[in-house]
Amino acid sequence: MTEEVHLWWVNLDLSADKIEELAQILSADEKARAQRFYFQQHRHRFIVARGTLRTILGHYLAIAPNRLEFEYSSRGKPKLAESLGGNEMHFNLSHSQDLALYGFTRDRAIGVDLEYMRPIADAQKIAQRFFSARESAIIDALPDSEKLIAFFRGWTAKEAYLKATGDGLAGSLDRVEVSFAPNEPMRLLAIDGDVQAAARWHLHAIVPAANYIATIAVEGQSNSQLTIRNWQFLSNL
Ligand SMILES: CC(C)(COP(=O)(O)OP(=O)(O)OC[C@H]1O[C@@H](n2cnc3c(N)ncnc32)[C@H](O)[C@@H]1OP(=O)(O)O)[C@@H](O)C(=O)NCCC(=O)NCCS
Repeated sequence: MTEEVHLWWVNLDLSADKIEELAQILSADEKARAQRFYFQQHRHRFIVARGTLRTILGHYLAIAPNRLEFEYSSRGKPKLAESLGGNEMHFNLSHSQDLALYGFTRDRAIGVDLEYMRPIADAQKIAQRFFSARESAIIDALPDSEKLIAFFRGWTAKEAYLKATGDGLAGSLDRVEVSFAPNEPMRLLAIDGDVQAAARWHLHAIVPAANYIATIAVEGQSNSQLTIRNWQFLSNL
């Protein structure tokens, strides 16, 4: 699967029985984290997202899902424990509302960002604050009907890259220059002004369900070929 990227998505709102089943495969620290959610819906969605991550990884690695161990970077990015191969298999996930998206690669970093495209009254203002001047001018120039989708394409592209590196939003969004207008292919253009550094990454936008948008960022020369395969995880299987 070296040149492949595997994407899985799952609906997070499952039956009580299924949630209970997935809760059983979480580690003690994940169970404790689940308990800290104030709202039951958020607790349940976390259990399903983590339980599904464990289930999919368990299939790939032929290990019982409850035996998987994760390690976390200083900024919270999970990876497989060194004893399980560490960075031989990379993964990243994102959840928004009732959907989670997972990306898996071998030997190359991956970041995933999924957003539910809720209407945002001040998308232009947010772009002015967090995007580069060039990017925010692109949004300003678009017809109103295209501003929101362009904003979310830009946002998910930047966040996917920052999640691939593990910086997350601690790395500022305007360091990461992207092409994101609705009629343009999604591309990383520059990182801190460095065009060559940007050329070492692929960006790929997907629409996993109506009103959702996601971008994945995968390490590798942007002119090399990647095969992206998609699956929906059906919890009743
Ligand atoms: C990573 C981050 C951008 C995610 O933001 P978000 O839009 O709320 O969440 P998403 O649904 O897209 O992604 C969440 C998932 O990304 C993963 N993740 C967490 N931190 C990550 C990081 N730094 N880089 C990449 N992925 C990360 C986790 O799997 C997490 O889901 P889970 O904890 O339920 O398993 C945000 O949490 C962030 O900026 N974190 C870094 C902040 C930091 O420096 N913290 C230091 C103290 S830990």
